[in-house]
Amino acid sequence: MEQGAVQAIAGDPLLDLARPEVLRDPYPAYARLRETAPVFWHELLGSWVLTRHADCLAVLTDSARFASDWRRAGEDIPAPLLSVQTLDPPEHTAIRHLLLDGFRAQDRQALHERLESEVRTLFAGLETRPSFDFVGDLAEPLALRFITAFLGVPAPDLDWFVPMSRTVVDGMDAGLWPEKNEPAVTARAELAAYAGGWLADPPKEGLIAYVAEHAESSGVEETILRNSLRAVLHAGYESASRLLGNAAAALLTTPGALDAFRTAPLATAVDELVRYDAPVQADARVCVEDTDLGGVTIRAGDPVTLLLGAANHDPLRFARPTELRLDRAPNPHLGFGRGAHACLGASMAIRLAGSVLATLAGRYPEARAVAEPCHRRNLTLRGLDRFEVTLRPREAGEEVRT
Ligand code: HEM
Repeated sequence: MEQGAVQAIAGDPLLDLARPEVLRDPYPAYARLRETAPVFWHELLGSWVLTRHADCLAVLTDSARFASDWRRAGEDIPAPLLSVQTLDPPEHTAIRHLLLDGFRAQDRQALHERLESEVRTLFAGLETRPSFDFVGDLAEPLALRFITAFLGVPAPDLDWFVPMSRTVVDGMDAGLWPEKNEPAVTARAELAAYAGGWLADPPKEGLIAYVAEHAESSGVEETILRNSLRAVLHAGYESASRLLGNAAAALLTTPGALDAFRTAPLATAVDELVRYDAPVQADARVCVEDTDLGGVTIRAGDPVTLLLGAANHDPLRFARPTELRLDRAPNPHLGFGRGAHACLGASMAIRLAGSVLATLAGRYPEARAVAEPCHRRNLTLRGLDRFEVTLRPREAGEEVRT
């Protein structure tokens, strides 16, 4: 196995990302990796790690050489994990198209009108409180109601769903912390049991109804349909709720950002917030054909980890990458992935975040953080545990804090 320049870096470059001060702001650590060892072999993970935009993009857009379906590299994928996320073209195409058609068939205008009214109601309930947790009181309940309404099912109890979902996310880092795997397998089974009956007894409206109606003609196996709907719930809920938290933290802790948000084009501003502090920081593929990348030969069978968060701050691709520039355009970030597996929910997520953040910036210009955002100890999906904020106007003599 060829080695990159990782030996030159003190400590373990990936485990270091979980230190509290690095977790708060991993971008300087990513920059050091990009500069010293843009493609390196990580022994513990047993994977190449990429940090440059060009390299990550090359892998994401080359599913012939870099597989999402690890069976192509001789690995076993347990049946509960076979879904739209773990298949490759041509097998992937049928389920991807079925979902894509299902996404397009939804009355998204009605969904968003309903969402807008929920956003207003939620904010109205929070504006009189001295402070509240943006994550637990707003981002998580809203994201869960949004994604379940889109699927066409009632939102489950938050106290049950959120810890289970977080355990599944913890398991995504099991390559570094193997003890996170077993609880994640149990939590995933619980999630599967919850979603298990959706297709057998489908709702009348929403994505599940569409998939149930077109299941037979699509030719997609039922296990894959079931697992893919579960993936939509989990990917949608976790990425969307984390996007809301990360974006609110960026706006409320960067001087002048909340004011700048009001004047920037909405979708452009949200896109920049995705680039600046993306919920999906890492993605994985397995190489199925020897490939030269960044001066290193990746061999067939080698896993490859893409640090998308690092790619999104690559100065070779983005001018002044560490700055939050809400009018940045074009913005070729990889926060929604790229290629065959690019995010199916990107436009919905941009709209969801747009309506929450426009309400925050438009109706509460004096909104501010009352404590530092507290990050969850996750490296694959980046997000907050808590973020205490207030919407109330400042009182006379109160210290100004952005
Ligand atoms: C409305 C909410 C969302 C839904 C329903 C959703 C759904 C999905 C689905 C079904 C896929 C798999 C597509 C495939 O494998 O062919 C996917 C991929 C992806 N999504 Fe989303 N998503 C949502 C929000 C987000 C957000 C907010 C982000 C980050 C800002 C995000 C980032 C990604 C990324 C990076 C991938 C690619 C994964 C890969 O390449 O393996 N998603 N999304």
